[in-house]
Amino acid sequence: MRAVVFDRYGPPEVLRVEDVERPVPKADEVLVRVHATTVNRSDCGFRAADPFFARFFTGPLRPKYRTPGTELAGKLAAVGDAVSQFAVGDEVFGLGRNGANAEYVCVREDAALAHKPAGMTFEEAAAVSDGACIALACLRRAKDLGEGKSIVIYGASGSIGTAAVQLAKSVGAHVTAVCNTKNVELVRSLGADEVIDYTQEDFTRDGETYDVVFDAVGKHSFRRSRGSLKKGGIYLETDLGFMWHVPALALLTRWIGDKKVTLPIPAYTKGDILYVKELIEAGRYRAVIDRTYPLEDVVEATRYVETGQKTGNVVLTLNGVVR
Ligand SMILES: NC(=O)c1ccc[n+]([C@@H]2O[C@H](COP(=O)([O-])OP(=O)(O)OC[C@H]3O[C@@H](n4cnc5c(N)ncnc54)[C@H](OP(=O)(O)O)[C@@H]3O)[C@@H](O)[C@H]2O)c1
Repeated sequence: MRAVVFDRYGPPEVLRVEDVERPVPKADEVLVRVHATTVNRSDCGFRAADPFFARFFTGPLRPKYRTPGTELAGKLAAVGDAVSQFAVGDEVFGLGRNGANAEYVCVREDAALAHKPAGMTFEEAAAVSDGACIALACLRRAKDLGEGKSIVIYGASGSIGTAAVQLAKSVGAHVTAVCNTKNVELVRSLGADEVIDYTQEDFTRDGETYDVVFDAVGKHSFRRSRGSLKKGGIYLETDLGFMWHVPALALLTRWIGDKKVTLPIPAYTKGDILYVKELIEAGRYRAVIDRTYPLEDVVEATRYVETGQKTGNVVLTLNGVVR
């Protein structure tokens, strides 16, 4: 089968497409024939070993796994003997641990995998999991976000940002989204109540205050955001580059001051995928896709993702002949 592979950490050019052996599912796994997958910022961090401490999880000198890719949508080609929730031929979507940038990948039955929502294409279904799971992990830290609460989402046009706008809106929060001019209409169409174009206006200088400031793109520190938080307000951050100081701030603001920094720990769970699926089927959540590339163009797709300027998600498709 065709798969994206890499043998060492490095720039997008370490990736190549090769013929490799098709994996065989264990008793508790399903074998997905992948129709669409994505290149996301987590994949890029894994491939580049950036931040450096990621190597503790992915292999200190060389990557433990040769094929990147977590998000997928496809059809089940086989199921292990102990699998009870899925059958051969089922259309699924969700997240595996790695290996999804390939024609086939094995995923545990109890992983963040679910039946594909009716009416969604494979491309759309591949692009709804990673951003949503990370956004959910963050928004959960803002415990009582809902009706009567306000949130400003900075970087609202990225993968996590577009997910956060929709998820915060779905629980009834008043959502202010901050993005570039070109994405104002898109972000409004996702349900944002107010949209601030950061090229025209600085949300920290308009006197408005919020229950939650969510920096979804690692560009707006707690220090810059403090004045925009209400008393008891919460600051959330996703970017690993900023992360080094977030644990310290989270500890410090627990005892000092009336504004809190919280430390979101992203997790990929079946519960979250089923929650997103429910929202999709209710018409309250949709995929935001910027560009779609064939698997063979993974290097070009990855270079684009690493510009940090994509809108929503970048999809890889596998429409070629399956060997
Ligand atoms: N904690 C985790 O486990 C985890 C996992 C994955 C990613 N991350 C981190 O989370 C962050 C967001 O990830 P993502 O996948 O959502 O990113 P992304 O999709 O690559 O974000 C791209 C968006 O960021 C916006 N942007 C770029 N520069 C900006 C600026 N100066 N001000 C405001 N918006 C700006 C761009 O919007 P405009 O065109 O409107 O400027 C673009 O739409 C990344 O830093 C990533 O490293 C964390």
